[in-house]
Order: sequence, then C-alpha cells, then structure tokens
Amino acid sequence: MEVDRKTFVAGPSSKAGALSSEERADALEERMMRQLEQAAPAQGVRRGTGVLFGGLTPGGLPLPLGALAAMPPRPTIVDFFKLRFMPHTVNHMLQSANDAQKKGESEETVLACLLHDIAVNLIKVDHGWWAAQMVEPYVSEKVSWAIRHHQALRFFPDPSVGYGYPERYIQIFGEGYVPEPYIKAAYEKARRHKWYMEARMITVHDLYAFEPGVNPTLEPFIDVIGRHFKQPKEGLGFDGSAVAHMWRSLIYPDNPL
Ligand SMILES: [Fe+2]
Ligand SMILES: [Fe+2]
Repeated sequence: MEVDRKTFVAGPSSKAGALSSEERADALEERMMRQLEQAAPAQGVRRGTGVLFGGLTPGGLPLPLGALAAMPPRPTIVDFFKLRFMPHTVNHMLQSANDAQKKGESEETVLACLLHDIAVNLIKVDHGWWAAQMVEPYVSEKVSWAIRHHQALRFFPDPSVGYGYPERYIQIFGEGYVPEPYIKAAYEKARRHKWYMEARMITVHDLYAFEPGVNPTLEPFIDVIGRHFKQPKEGLGFDGSAVAHMWRSLIYPDNPL
C-alpha cells in the first residue's frame, strides 16, 4: 500500500487552522504512523534494506516493515532471494530471467538477468555498479560486466533489438530527464565493447519483466545458479572476499555499527 506523502504534509484542511503547530505536528506524526501500520501488516516480513539506505523503492513505493528473518550461518545466494531481497525485486528479476530463458538466451545471460538488480536491496544509486561488484568474485567476468553496464544502457535506445526508452523511466525520472555525464560516458564506452550485447540483452528482458500477476519461481533457475555462480563454502558474507561486507550488510541491516 502506498503511503500518501502529500496527505502527511497538507493534513486535513478543515481542522488544521485551529491547531497550534505543535498539535499539528503531533497529529501529523500519528497519522503517519497509522498509515505506515496499515501499509505494514504485523505478519509482514521486512526484506531488503533499500528503506534504510535509500528511502523508498526505485518506483517510489514504501516497503512493508516487519520482523527480519534469521539467516542460516552459511547463506547461499538462494537464501538471499528467499529471506532478504525485496519480494517485488525478486519477482522482477525472476520475470526477467524467465523471459531470457524462454527466448533461448545462454545460461550466463539468464543468470545475469536473474541477478541484475540485486543491489537495489542495499542501495539504489548506481545499482548496476554495486550489483556487479557484489557478484564479481562468484560469476564470470562477462556476467558481472553485463550487470554493471545494464544500468547505463537502460537510458539509451537500441532499435536494432527493439529496445526503446522505458515508459517507467518517465514516471521515475520525469519527462525530458538527461542522465548524468558519467552515465552517458559509461554507455558510450560499453557501446564499443565486445560484450555490449550481453549488457544490452539484460535491458531488453528488463522490458518484459514488470507484468502484474506473473510470479515465476526460483526453482527453474537453481541449476543455472549451480553451474555459473560459485557459491563460497563459508557462505556469502563470510568468505573474506573484498565484497563480503556488502552481503553482511544485507544480513545485519539493523546492527548499529
Ligand atoms: Fe536495473
Ligand atoms: Fe531491472
């Protein structure tokens, strides 16, 4: 459920004039808490740390808040899908991988689609770069390269594969949005790279991965993960790799330090 931020700010116009600013602030706080409670059923499970690190989801929706599930001592990528990643992100990545698989893409491209947005569970900005880094020790160089560059490519059409500027980006970024120069530079560099199409195909399958009511499961991708994701035996977060702390931040999002 979406919490109406405009309602918070404006408040009910009929009574607001009669209240002191302190009373208005109290009423506002109470109303916000009530709406958040409605948005978060008590049994809701909080997954993903996007709220802590980046506020609302990329689409502007608040996440349901609830108890965070315990993780097994040696978490696998599948555990993160099931216990940490935000459900709507999981659904989007599964739809994307499903589309890639149906259209006969290579297993590496299917894996890249399956993982391409994992970073938004941690942080929204530069999510392609973050996601690529998170998986770099565990996947082929081609897969992490493709994931890193899908973010910049999303802003730039490629009619040769039927990819246009996403409608969704008009909602998220507004009409006439011009990406930062570093995004454009990354796109131009990627355009000339031998793996350009690997990243481009992530963006193509991305277009078919926001269907309401479509809920693919992770099961058909377990074998692909097994063949192309080198799961560390100590568990993600505990293998001493340069990115272990990123996985730990997802495991322990509420630790104070
Ligand atoms: Fe993305
Ligand atoms: Fe995506």
